[in-house]
Formats: sequence, C-alpha cells, structure tokens
Amino acid sequence: MEYTTLGGTGEKVSRVGLGIWQFSQSWGIVEYRDAFKIVSRAIEVGINLVDTALIYGGGTSERFLGQALKEIGVARDEVLISTKIPGELLSFDDTFRALDLSLKRLQTSYVDIIQAHWPPIWRHIPICEYARALERLVSLGRARYIGLSDHPKPVVEEFLSCLSKYDVEVLQYRFNLAEREAEKEIVPLAEELDATLTAWSPLAKGAILGKYSLEDIEKLKDVRSGEALFKPDNYRQILALSEKIKEIASRIGKTPAQVALNWLIMYSDNIVPIPGAKSEAQVEENAGAVGWRLSYSDWRLLDEESRKLKLSYVTYEE
Ligand SMILES: NC(=O)c1ccc[n+]([C@@H]2O[C@H](COP(=O)([O-])OP(=O)(O)OC[C@H]3O[C@@H](n4cnc5c(N)ncnc54)[C@H](OP(=O)(O)O)[C@@H]3O)[C@@H](O)[C@H]2O)c1
Repeated sequence: MEYTTLGGTGEKVSRVGLGIWQFSQSWGIVEYRDAFKIVSRAIEVGINLVDTALIYGGGTSERFLGQALKEIGVARDEVLISTKIPGELLSFDDTFRALDLSLKRLQTSYVDIIQAHWPPIWRHIPICEYARALERLVSLGRARYIGLSDHPKPVVEEFLSCLSKYDVEVLQYRFNLAEREAEKEIVPLAEELDATLTAWSPLAKGAILGKYSLEDIEKLKDVRSGEALFKPDNYRQILALSEKIKEIASRIGKTPAQVALNWLIMYSDNIVPIPGAKSEAQVEENAGAVGWRLSYSDWRLLDEESRKLKLSYVTYEE
C-alpha cells in the first residue's frame, strides 16, 4: 500500500480507502459475515481509511464496521474511521446526539473524521451553528478532525470563517472519470486548503468498468436502478469510455478498476478515492490501484475520452 498525509494533520492515510455504504439494503451487503470479510481484507492489504455514515443502511454500516474492527482486533489508532451527520441533523444539539449514537454503533469513544454529510437544505441551520458544534466535538475528544461532504465552495468558505480553533482537513465529493464536476472548484479548493479530497463513487458505481451490458443494467435491482448514469443515453457513452479503460488495462496488465482509480490519484496528490467493495476480491483489486502510475499518454487519453461525455441528469420521462 502507498500512503499519503491526511490534510494538514501529519496523519498517515492509505492512498486508497474503503467506502462502506455497501453495507446496506441499497447495495446488498446485509449479512455481517460478508461485511466482516471485506473490512478484514481491507485492513490486511493496508487500507487504513474507512468511510461510513449515519444513514448508510440506517446505521447498519456503522454497526458492522464497529463489530468487525472489534473482532479483527485491530488497534484503534491503526484505522481512521470517517462518519457523517446528515444535513438535517446539524443543529447544535442534534449534532451531539447523532454522533453519540454513531459512536455507540461503532463501539468506540471517538471517530477520526466527523463530516457534515451535506449542507442543511430542508431546515434553516446557520452554517456557523454546525461549525461550532463540530469544533466542540473535536475539543471534547469525540472526533479528531473535521470534514465537509458535498459542500459547494462558498459554503466551505463560510464554514471556514466560523471556525476558531480547527481546520477542515477533508472535503468529500463525487469524482470519477465520467463525473468530473469536482475539478471545477473542489479539487483546487482542496489543494489550496491542503485538505484531503476523498473522492466518492470513484468507479461511477461500477459504470465505467463496462462490466454490465445495456441489457444487464435493467436487471440491477440495487441503488443503481434509478441512477442517471445507468440511463441508456448516458450509459451508452460511458460504455464507449469503458472500452478505452479496458484497452489500457489489458495492455499494461492492470484491471479496469485499477486504471480508473489510478487516473484519480494522478489527478492530484490530495485525492484519496474511497471505492466501495462488495467482496474481498474487489477490495484487494482496488488496493492494487496504487504503488504504480499510468503513463502520461494513457492518463491524457482517458482525460480526453472522458471529456467527450455529455451526460444528463434529467431522467424524468413523459
Ligand atoms: N458523501 C457522499 O455523499 C457519498 C455519496 C456516495 C458514496 N459515498 C461514499 O463513497 C463510497 C464509494 O462510492 P459508491 O459506492 O457510490 O461507488 P463506487 O465506489 O464508484 O462503486 C462501488 C461499486 O463498484 C463495484 N466495484 C467495486 N470495486 C470493483 C472492482 N474492483 N471490480 C469490479 N467492480 C467493482 C461494486 O459493485 P458491483 O460489484 O455490484 O458492480 C461496488 O459496490 C461509498 O461506499 C460511500 O462510503 C459518499
């Protein structure tokens, strides 16, 4: 495994993490034993960042992670646990209540990274209110570092202006070869702030791997069935990109997932992709995405091919 530094913390973090939204009905890992194997394999291959959230599986993801880490017996300071509080639970009091319950499920007294999952949208909670709550949680030892997920640049900036003692060490945002909005403002912001950008859906939920045909995707019964990426007009374009990814992968002796993740880590030293995995084999494969680099010409080829995509998120039909 290759390691980098988490934001400005001096903390060692693996160059690829593990996302565990997969431990939910949405993705299908609903048996603890399956989750245990995925977490154990991740630790064995040197992954030390695990990304969960209060809402994943309604708490199942946090619960499985806490149980698995206990069972594996890994020292608490050898793994970075990142969890998130939904935007609507970010009032001062709810922030505390939400994290207290997460800590119970995770069977630990602190998380390494506490993130606001998204900005409050349906409730008017001032940005400084949750900035102060998250800072208080850090000063009380319930969390070590603060992160913001899915926060647009102006909201991150306002949040920063509310902080008195700590920094934002992690920004979390979607970034993959098919969905590149993060590069407009969030990647440069992460670099400017020296924050780690944990890239979510780094494999575009598997779409860019080209492992499902247009016919197959109609049979996907998980979270992907309603996803814009998998709508035929979009997915056809993504399949064309996946052919290029596959060509490069077979030429250099890597897998499509490894090529797609390597493209991201080459994009910026600040990026740590957090792919989700459904099996031990996928964890192992994703861990093999680091420790080497694509050639500049292959990186550029994918860059250009991916820029050809014109995806639409308007999926409503008459
Ligand atoms: N902050 C946020 O708002 C937010 C939003 C979404 C996700 N996240 C985080 O980001 C993590 C990852 O994102 P994601 O789950 O949306 O998508 P992803 O990582 O792009 O895709 C994960 C899926 O790709 C397939 N896959 C993974 N590794 C593979 C490999 N080596 N070979 C072939 N297929 C492979 C698996 O599905 P199949 O095998 O079933 O095809 C897996 O469930 C989540 O677990 C979560 O922690 C955060």
